[in-house]
Amino acid sequence: MKYWRKLDQSDIRKRVFEALNENVNFYTEAIVGVPASHLDSKVFFSDASFLKDAPFLSSLIHNPNHIGCHTLGKSESFFSGTQEIERDLIAICAHDILRGEGEFDGYVASGGTEANMQAAWIFRNYFMQEMGLNADEIALLASSDGHYSMAKACNVLGLNLYSVQVDDDQRSLQKVDLDRAIAQLKSDGNKAVIVVVNMMTTMFGSVDQPSVYIEALKSADLPFKIHVDGAYGGFFYPFSGEKNIPDFSIPEITSVTLDAHKMVQAPYGTGMFIIRKGWMNYAATKEASYVEGEDSTLIGSRSGANAVAIWMILSTYGPYAWREKIFVLQKRTDWLEQQLKEKRIAYFRQPSSNIITIRAGHVPHELAEKFVMVPDNHHAPKWFKIVVMEHVSIERLIPVVEGLV
Ligand SMILES: Cc1ncc(COP(=O)(O)O)c(C=O)c1O
Repeated sequence: MKYWRKLDQSDIRKRVFEALNENVNFYTEAIVGVPASHLDSKVFFSDASFLKDAPFLSSLIHNPNHIGCHTLGKSESFFSGTQEIERDLIAICAHDILRGEGEFDGYVASGGTEANMQAAWIFRNYFMQEMGLNADEIALLASSDGHYSMAKACNVLGLNLYSVQVDDDQRSLQKVDLDRAIAQLKSDGNKAVIVVVNMMTTMFGSVDQPSVYIEALKSADLPFKIHVDGAYGGFFYPFSGEKNIPDFSIPEITSVTLDAHKMVQAPYGTGMFIIRKGWMNYAATKEASYVEGEDSTLIGSRSGANAVAIWMILSTYGPYAWREKIFVLQKRTDWLEQQLKEKRIAYFRQPSSNIITIRAGHVPHELAEKFVMVPDNHHAPKWFKIVVMEHVSIERLIPVVEGLV
């Protein structure tokens, strides 16, 4: 671990308050040129005594705007303190979680949807600028279990979406269907491909093998770039004990989405986009001339408190306690899996994951409603999932198991 350290609460507090002190202070300074201020003081009091022990809430009321990308060099100087925390966070994720060597850029996005879209935007612009392609000559390829944000990204960016079928029991990419999709996209006039590899899908927790795409696209002689959607699995699967993690140790993987507002239990608005150095410029908006350092992100203004929240959580645990946290969730999921086996319930579980997805025939309607088991499709459910989160204890799983038929 190069960057990720477990810190005690007093060190975490000190670091965040020092960062806030380095930022401009709307409460005490004459900052007159920006349409920004601290949170409304009639509603959010800055003098509440507990705030001195509450670095995240203090960050919220101080209201730093992290507009732009802060790993690129020049950034807005007003919020340099909390931007430094964001840079540390990107380094922890790129190197210590995703095993990257070399340099990386990234930022805290609104969520997985934005981070996936940021990747598609960068690679689309790369193929357009470097190969002279039109957007409608670029395909986005993902598995049929991939998140719907790929469809959104294609709609917004004018890309062509191609879906690869997965095996119904194993949820793994069907090689034959991948070959079919590649032949199809080629014959439709696509000349380059953006691949989205899943590191734990939304419904099944399934993980794609990047080599399947890499081999197929190389033998089809098509230029491609690979993004990993780790919105769900990015903070889980690297700690699962499994061997084949789709991360930056694979040279063909250029960018990754992580979502701290899922497994990290950070507040919403804590997606993360991480990419190898040298790529963010394909999303640079030169017209953002009033922003110091300009802007290479989709979002524009965003709260610096979100970066602080993720950094605080990761620093509270450190890498070893984080592993333990994931281990406990896996053990509870092992318990659940064992119960399902004993009851002869048909299910899918990616080895070591904390999602179990059950064939709908075993799940009475009232049970699904009572325990908010999410279906793959609300109109015609074929599967329902159980996600073993921190609050999903074995005590809470027992009545669910008892209700399965
Ligand atoms: C695998 C995956 N990708 C992307 C997303 C989108 O994330 P968000 O809702 O944060 O935009 C999700 C959300 O569930 C997801 O599970």
